[in-house]
Amino acid sequence: MPMEQEITLIMPTEAIQPDSVDYDEWEHKIQEYRREFLENGDTINGSRGLHHYEKIAGWLEQIKACEKDNNSYIGVPVTTFLAIRRDSPDDWTIVGNIEIRHHLNPALEELGGHIGYSVRPSQRRKGYAVSMLRQVLCYARTLGLKKVMLDCDKSNTGSLKTIQKCGGIHSRDLLSEYQGRNIVNSQFWISLP
Ligand SMILES: CC(C)(COP(=O)(O)OP(=O)(O)OC[C@H]1O[C@@H](n2cnc3c(N)ncnc32)[C@H](O)[C@@H]1OP(=O)(O)O)[C@@H](O)C(=O)NCCC(=O)NCCS
Repeated sequence: MPMEQEITLIMPTEAIQPDSVDYDEWEHKIQEYRREFLENGDTINGSRGLHHYEKIAGWLEQIKACEKDNNSYIGVPVTTFLAIRRDSPDDWTIVGNIEIRHHLNPALEELGGHIGYSVRPSQRRKGYAVSMLRQVLCYARTLGLKKVMLDCDKSNTGSLKTIQKCGGIHSRDLLSEYQGRNIVNSQFWISLP
């Protein structure tokens, strides 16, 4: 695998303001990011449904609402990040996204866990998923979490390896339904030192 390039996690709800000079650039970059998944036939795991939004305003509203406790979307607070790679002083690329649910509820204990993520198709196998997850584990600690649960389809080798490289210990496999398919859902716990 090529050497991991440095990426930074940003919170869109803090970084992107409707009246800021770079709003149009964000709109363009995020829509370009979203299109790449759609053209690849993917949803965007861990993005609070970015694939549904043709304009970022609605998506920003959604992730802002999800930051609140007891929101009507998922029921627990969620923080969403974009992973940014600076390519030159004037250019940058969104390489991935990751979200953390601040605690589990019965639905997330069965499917979803604390953390979900995606890397854009053209930027996979460069170490970005591992880098994003490591950074979010540090953030999880600041939320007071001592351990986090992650899960994925047992056949999703990329995600399984990502979780294991970040210290995930397998706890159980469950039969689950995900996006209309029956899957074997492998669950892992990561202890946070
Ligand atoms: C799963 C996903 C996030 C991995 O992202 P990534 O940036 O390519 O992962 P990394 O480059 O950090 O790789 C982590 C490990 O997985 C391995 N890996 C990644 N994709 C793989 C694949 N398709 N097949 C086999 N191994 C794979 C890497 O080689 C690396 O292991 P290594 O260091 O031992 O070589 C990405 O494929 C993706 O976005 N998939 C769609 C969304 C998804 O499945 N999200 C997770 C839902 S639980």
